[in-house]
Amino acid sequence: MIIDGKQIAKKIRKNIHDKVKQLDRAPNLVVILVGNDPASAVYVRNKENACIEVGFSSEKIVLPESITQEDLLANIKRLNNDDLVDGILVQLPLPKHLDPNQVIENINYAKDVDGFNSRNIGELIQNRAILRPCTPKGVMTMLKEINIDLAGKDVTMVGASNIVGRPLAIELLNAGATVTICNSKTKDLKNKVKRADIVAVAVGRAEMINGDWIKDGAIVIDVGINRLDDGRLVGDVDFNSIKDKASWITPVPGGVGPMTIATLLENTLIAYNARNS
Ligand code: GUN
Repeated sequence: MIIDGKQIAKKIRKNIHDKVKQLDRAPNLVVILVGNDPASAVYVRNKENACIEVGFSSEKIVLPESITQEDLLANIKRLNNDDLVDGILVQLPLPKHLDPNQVIENINYAKDVDGFNSRNIGELIQNRAILRPCTPKGVMTMLKEINIDLAGKDVTMVGASNIVGRPLAIELLNAGATVTICNSKTKDLKNKVKRADIVAVAVGRAEMINGDWIKDGAIVIDVGINRLDDGRLVGDVDFNSIKDKASWITPVPGGVGPMTIATLLENTLIAYNARNS
């Protein structure tokens, strides 16, 4: 069966919209875009549109490619000190001359709606985070939606990035799963995938995993979004060879993708409530 991320995300947005109507002030998310990367511009526009749809206010700050680290940090400091800003998101990747870690660390942790700064990641590891990274948290929402009890499940996480693989592995551990985290050096990757009750893949390699790798009845979570030369959008797993073998699978597009932005909205509302209570 297919886990319909688009539908689940829509339900989350409706729920947020209903809650926002009861607030004194619209939650306010500020998104910073540095430079002219076309993919980043699309992501940022989608985030803005989603904010408007649920009744948030949203400000986009576009900074020139040539901005210095110092000037970027000055912008963040101003937003940290502005009581009417609830969430701050700096779209990644940044131009090469800028240090993303220092940027992330300078965002007030209570406004870090990406959940990327070390305090929020530290709290995630201790299973007490308030702001959790959006894509991993969105995956957890999807698993909850299909009523999967993760306690004792064998999960293989393929990919160990700071944005998805690592925090998703921790989320799954926090839910009681036994997690194997694989990286580009992992031996016998296929066997580690094959023994898993749940496989999550976030490596950015088109259709790298096919049906031969998947245990009958496994759940497959595909976090990849890859554009092929023919223009098609595909995930990190080969949907067609897996769909009849897996008990549940997330499609691409329409799976994990829409959950990331819906979860960003959730986090912005959480940040608003935490700072205004
Ligand atoms: N670039 C790709 N994914 C993300 C994300 O989740 N947050 C930010 N800020 N940048 C990204």
